[in-house]
Amino acid sequence: MGHDMSLSSASKTETASQKDANMQWGGRFAGGPSEIMQAINASISFDKALWKQDIAGSLAHAAMLAHVGIISKDDETAIRNGLTAIGQDIEAGRFEFSEALEDIHMNIEARLSDRIGEAGKRLHTARSRNDQVATDFRLWVRDAIDGVDQQVASLMRALARRAEEHAADPMPGFTHLQTAQPVTFGHHLMAYVEMLARDRGRLADTRKRLNECPLGSAALAGTSFPIDRSMTAGLLGFDRPTANSLDSVSDRDFALEYLSALSIMAMHLSRLAEEIVIWCSSPFSFIRLSDAFTTGSSIMPQKRNPDAAELVRAKTGRITGSLVSLLTVMKGLPLAYAKDMQEDKEPVFAATDAATLSLAACDGMIRDMTANTKQMRALAGSGYSTATDIADWLVRVLKVPFRTAHHVTGRLVAKAEEKGVDLADLSLAEMQAEEPGITDDIYSVLTVEASIASRTSEGGTASTNVLREARKWQEALAADAPSTSANSAAQ
Ligand code: ARG
Repeated sequence: MGHDMSLSSASKTETASQKDANMQWGGRFAGGPSEIMQAINASISFDKALWKQDIAGSLAHAAMLAHVGIISKDDETAIRNGLTAIGQDIEAGRFEFSEALEDIHMNIEARLSDRIGEAGKRLHTARSRNDQVATDFRLWVRDAIDGVDQQVASLMRALARRAEEHAADPMPGFTHLQTAQPVTFGHHLMAYVEMLARDRGRLADTRKRLNECPLGSAALAGTSFPIDRSMTAGLLGFDRPTANSLDSVSDRDFALEYLSALSIMAMHLSRLAEEIVIWCSSPFSFIRLSDAFTTGSSIMPQKRNPDAAELVRAKTGRITGSLVSLLTVMKGLPLAYAKDMQEDKEPVFAATDAATLSLAACDGMIRDMTANTKQMRALAGSGYSTATDIADWLVRVLKVPFRTAHHVTGRLVAKAEEKGVDLADLSLAEMQAEEPGITDDIYSVLTVEASIASRTSEGGTASTNVLREARKWQEALAADAPSTSANSAAQ
């Protein structure tokens, strides 16, 4: 908003007394707020993002007021036409938001009264800004959940498609970022599909719990007017009205749940992003990002930098920061509403922007990347990655206890390391020196392909498993058409 903080506070205090009292609540005030008061108090600079939800809430409230006879049908018609026109003005950028009117609720209500007079002044009967903002914000978060959910589904589709393509392409699997056992690239990508599916589940749970309507709780105690809360809840697509008026106006746990779900999702995205950074580094060279998702260096002409992935990794900080910020605002607040809660919106808006951009960037990177399957295959067999397969062979064929087999294999690895060769390059005599029962058959499990093909246990990396999973998910996600809501999160 660019408040000029270079003004001395003395001069600000002077201007204050010359100001008019707030036209919405200033009945008992002789003068207006100081500029500093206005600057710290006003939320219009950011809560104007709630305009659609605010109008929707007011339309439902007015319809209900008319239905139960608290206002006349004519007043309701005037309110509806007035709010519709205001919505069109805001949409077209013709609406001038006023900081003196503090927030989106009073900006819209004041303009309505300007336009339609008396009827507009009846709209605030049997409600308060406290239940109004709680309703608007739930509606906004609900929409945000639906938007994010669709993006997550799209990223899952992209991952599953690439996984199907690479269901049989070996890559080194890591633990401690040390080569552990061969896996397929498809299997690795499908791991993220599972994570994102749980993220969708968390968003869907959040949506279910938030879908109760606070409208009609009024300031904190409910109202003496004979309102119909089920009607407003229904008109706004809520499952039911909230049960306790104090709780309704004073909790923001729905926003916190949303931010928690986003934070966990962002953590997943940052891990994917980090892997992309590693994979496209030249020593690894597992993938190449498209030009569309790469930047150059202003000094080193050879560089292709994965800036988008790095920024996805970094934006996690904003999202997690938003969660911590709102948790800190809410902790220790006595019931019911306190103005602290006005600080609930910016973290939610910021986290949503960051999540939306991060999901789009991941989607683009995954769709466009080229896998260097040769390089991955070459490294999949390095670092004695099939050592576990030798141990398993000793257990399966010679019935050696696993712990003993582990030791024998360890000695074989040491021998290979000493000679500077792969396990498959050790002669049968060298192997038998460690375990006389070993036969030629052991060489059949030493290849990367055999190792992968043998991992057929449920959830294992065998290509047949990966292919089945990748196809299953693509089918499930295709059925989950882009227009469906988070409620139908594919499981
Ligand atoms: N702008 C306020 C907010 O976002 C609206 C509610 C104001 N309520 C009040 N009692 N001052 O929290």
